[in-house]
Amino acid sequence: MNLDKQYPCVADMEAAAQRRIPQFMREYLFGGLGGGVSVQKNRQALNQVELMPRYLSDGNKPEIHRQLFGRTYDAPFGVAPVGLSGLVWANSEVILAAAAKAHNIPYTLSTVATASLEEIRKVAGENAWFQLYTPKEPEVVKDLLGRCKSVGYETLLLTVDVPYATRREHDIRNGVSVPPNFDLKTLSQMVSHPGWALRMLRAGVPEFVNLKPYFAVKPSFNVGKSIKASTHFISERLGGHISAQRFDQIRDLWSGKLLVKGVMDPTEAKQYLAMGADGLVISNHGGRQLDAAPSTVSVLPAIRAAVGPMATLLVDSGVRTGLDVARMLALGSDFVLMGRPFLFALAAMDRQGGEHVMKILKAELRSAMGQIGCSTLQDLPSFLACK
Ligand SMILES: Cc1cc2nc3c(=O)[nH]c(=O)nc-3n(C[C@H](O)[C@H](O)[C@H](O)COP(=O)(O)O)c2cc1C
Repeated sequence: MNLDKQYPCVADMEAAAQRRIPQFMREYLFGGLGGGVSVQKNRQALNQVELMPRYLSDGNKPEIHRQLFGRTYDAPFGVAPVGLSGLVWANSEVILAAAAKAHNIPYTLSTVATASLEEIRKVAGENAWFQLYTPKEPEVVKDLLGRCKSVGYETLLLTVDVPYATRREHDIRNGVSVPPNFDLKTLSQMVSHPGWALRMLRAGVPEFVNLKPYFAVKPSFNVGKSIKASTHFISERLGGHISAQRFDQIRDLWSGKLLVKGVMDPTEAKQYLAMGADGLVISNHGGRQLDAAPSTVSVLPAIRAAVGPMATLLVDSGVRTGLDVARMLALGSDFVLMGRPFLFALAAMDRQGGEHVMKILKAELRSAMGQIGCSTLQDLPSFLACK
């Protein structure tokens, strides 16, 4: 298979993912909530961002390395945390972690991943970041962060944009859970996607491996085995509103770099930095939390203006191409994350997908910079077309 010809861009991978993932997981991956307005808005806003080409300048050798927290990455983008991704595509966490290491970009493991944080740190090495949905019991937070620290994680993304139980209608309709709760409807969807099902069978039933040790931390949590215990823990004992006091506890426990993920408001952006965050991820969770949320494109310039040029800003939500990465950097972010595109790539190409999509995104970014005549990432903001 000639991957370059078959999958020259993420849109082709997305089309393959539409075909290859059973409906209940496809809706989980692709969908937002409500009318899906926020998902569309992220894309529409990115498409509106114009860059002005200049042909007298020398952009022949675009340089895309980026320094972040003292490390140099080969590109200014990385993999955003995607929970349950082992149920979207078998072994996705390990495949993407290995690809991220090979391409020298960050890979972020979700708290609700189906691969262990210890294994992923081994696979991705120093390119591994960890995302925290904060458990409600302080002793569980301490233990989880202690495990991250002891195996060498240096960067923690603290997600703050899930303060309340999310109602994604398609997931409610489909009964999405981990371990999967297969009913006749999902079983028939799996049978009609044998490639997906076979890989899943070989990989074994996905579990919330990072949280499993805590299901029975208190006798009252131990409400039974498997599905019941994990569902209870995730819905009752994890996440919730991150108050200033909870933030302080985490900051005290975590001596590594702390990025707050899910920031959308310029005033809050300043507050988080003043409270001790090392940086922010501007994100509306890929349009999955609030269907009335603004696009990240529309808030990024105001946040950059509020926090000043020295603050570390990452952004995600809707990025699908290297050109989109250039657009986000032109608007003032230092680094860009993507979630869905990497899963689309695995659904399209399985084990080869991670490395292929990272290669494509790098090539697209260089091509976009070359076309506008921009040779360094720092110069991108000067190519923003004024309206
Ligand atoms: C299927 C799915 C699961 C996600 N799970 C998590 C998660 O566990 N933790 C988290 O902080 N963000 C999670 N996110 C949000 C992503 O980290 C990221 O913000 C979002 O995917 C960016 O939008 P994009 O998919 O358009 O690139 C998830 C997103 C998707 C699509």
